[in-house]
Amino acid sequence: MTDAARPAADPVSARRTFAIISHPDAGKTTLTEKLLLFGGAIQLAGEVKAKRNRVSTRSDWMAIEKSRGISVVTSVMTFEYGGHVFNLLDTPGHEDFSEDTYRTLTAVDSAVMVIDAAKGIEARTRKLFEVCRLRDIPIVTFVNKMDRETRDPFDLLDEIEKTLALDTAPVNWPIGRGRSFAGTYDLVRSTVRGLDEEVVPRSVSGPDDPLFDELLPDPAERATFREEVELAREGLNAFDLAAFREGHLTPVFFGSALRNYGVRDLIDALGAVAPPPRAQDADGRAVEAAEPKMTGFVFKIQANMDPNHRDRIAFMRVCSGRLQRGMKAKLVRTGKPITLSAPQFFFAQDRAVADEAFAGDVVGIPNHGTLRIGDTLTEGEDLVFRGVPSFAPEIMRRVKLSDAMKAKKLKEALQQLAEEGVVQLFVPHDGSGAIVGVVGALQLDVLKERLQAEYSLPIDYEQTRFSVCRWIASEDERKLDEFMNANRSAMADDLDGAPVFLAPSPFSLRYDEERWPQIRFTDIKDYQ
Ligand code: G4P
Repeated sequence: MTDAARPAADPVSARRTFAIISHPDAGKTTLTEKLLLFGGAIQLAGEVKAKRNRVSTRSDWMAIEKSRGISVVTSVMTFEYGGHVFNLLDTPGHEDFSEDTYRTLTAVDSAVMVIDAAKGIEARTRKLFEVCRLRDIPIVTFVNKMDRETRDPFDLLDEIEKTLALDTAPVNWPIGRGRSFAGTYDLVRSTVRGLDEEVVPRSVSGPDDPLFDELLPDPAERATFREEVELAREGLNAFDLAAFREGHLTPVFFGSALRNYGVRDLIDALGAVAPPPRAQDADGRAVEAAEPKMTGFVFKIQANMDPNHRDRIAFMRVCSGRLQRGMKAKLVRTGKPITLSAPQFFFAQDRAVADEAFAGDVVGIPNHGTLRIGDTLTEGEDLVFRGVPSFAPEIMRRVKLSDAMKAKKLKEALQQLAEEGVVQLFVPHDGSGAIVGVVGALQLDVLKERLQAEYSLPIDYEQTRFSVCRWIASEDERKLDEFMNANRSAMADDLDGAPVFLAPSPFSLRYDEERWPQIRFTDIKDYQ
């Protein structure tokens, strides 16, 4: 690995936009705190969590987050370190919010995979890894909790290679472990860093350096360390930048986020080797980060910090050019201009108006419902970014309102919340009541709480006879009409008016798929 923290030449190549993926409890929150702490964004570690637990003035649905101890909302944190600008996009920790997580991963250029050193690769890590692989997102691995009982490091590397089919290249090696864990040894540069408070690592002559007598007083542990370093250097892959950028190899760092070991090694590496903003696929062409004209796409909408004002923040990833405060952009979906009068940056505790932002940055754009997930903004060009997906919901419910007088209000509220991505909304062709679809059941609780808190609409849910849904399309318009007419009571429109087929079971869906070979049934829809 090359010298870290070299200032990059221009604002775009200085950007590192990344997310952390992990199984719950592996240490994502702790690592986030420490990245922000050593990145200078917060004064005291613990503030991320403290903020999470603070009595919130936000609407009541945040109560769900508190009571279940999960972070429901995706947010972004920006900090500068060693000449780089880091944008850390937080992904919700709970399985139920996987849609949000997937969307967030469309907006990053790399990911840090946190693994618990005692547990290795766990279910959710693997799932999130697969999403990163689909999108060719390079992964840096952080093996956390080396200060506790751990599995053998070689075993852990082997497990990553076997279960994820991903080459590993350890970059640092743990100096002792468990109670004796005393720091990290850089296998490439032959340097030692004790605690992360040590900004500049110490150069040593090699694993036999007398410094290790101090760090590891127990002769047996010292001998093990030296043996392991020899073995790691001889038997394991060396770091290869091209293989990493292509997603075939992950550099591995050992550390302890809680005890401040290895975190600075990780930040240095993100600066030195993680990719700068990459080209983004739009229909028709790829948009290069270095292009002069501003483009971006919305991957997340977050509503109502203040329910009285119905304000919404659309999170937009800038894909190219320079976003300037006050500029007019074109919202390609409607063709209408939108003035970016108060774009915002987010920090650990604060937000601030952004005067300018570059490719790789994520800005919050306050709006009152103009912007939707998947929207593309440009300086005039008609292009649409691909790849902010919508997943076929696995749970569908009809919304039941006790007060029929409020039907119109409910319709509007559901429309707004669906635009935000809280649920998906399907309007049946046969005129029956709206159906909401979710990937995880917790989304239904959030919808119910928010309808009550923000719109004073008490609702309940009713079962529907449907359990599967698919977007449908066909090259042959007539066939498509024929199919929709034959299945009128099972057809609905989604938020964008795209036709959706609802089926009672996977079995009956298969039957229809076989009977109608000219119809394409899809379970993932890219937002247009
Ligand atoms: P998550 O966001 O991935 O779910 O994990 P989080 O950071 O909340 O960490 C989960 C638990 O693991 C926490 O303990 C945290 O203190 C602990 N932890 C994180 N990193 C390390 C580490 O490097 N070493 C050790 N020994 N523990 C670590 P908890 O008791 O569940 O929570 P708390 O009461 O300490 O906050």
